[in-house]
Amino acid sequence: MTDMSELLEQARRAAEASYCPYSRFRVGAALRCKDGVVITGTNVENRSYGLTNCAERSAIFTAISAGRTEFEAIAVSTPDSAEAVAPCGACRQVLSEFVKADFPVVFAGRDQRVETTLGQLYPFDSLQDLKKGSGG
Ligand code: THU
Repeated sequence: MTDMSELLEQARRAAEASYCPYSRFRVGAALRCKDGVVITGTNVENRSYGLTNCAERSAIFTAISAGRTEFEAIAVSTPDSAEAVAPCGACRQVLSEFVKADFPVVFAGRDQRVETTLGQLYPFDSLQDLKKGSGG
């Protein structure tokens, strides 16, 4: 099992905790920090739909809240879809605060897996000039 396969498996397990009574679409994310620690997150929905937090941002915010700011890779798992589902635009922007363009991103559904980088997913990084994050 490669590094990314293991991280994906952690993301898939994280999806089991998803709170998604409205979409019934579970998402799990696993963020590997520079020191090897993996922080997971899941999507948390709300009856006021716009307040939903994606799995990726749940993981990032948890990591930052725990004092971790340096990351190696992220995996996103959507076990309820056959296709791989890419991180949404908001999550790409939030990730870009903390990591560089070559940051590895893997996402997978049941039958498809995509390995890419944040730079490929988000080539025109918004407000780059204002950036203060350590991924800088
Ligand atoms: N979702 C994520 O958690 N991450 C993404 O990158 C895409 C969408 C969640 C939000 C919502 O709970 C459900 O998937 C359906 O949109």
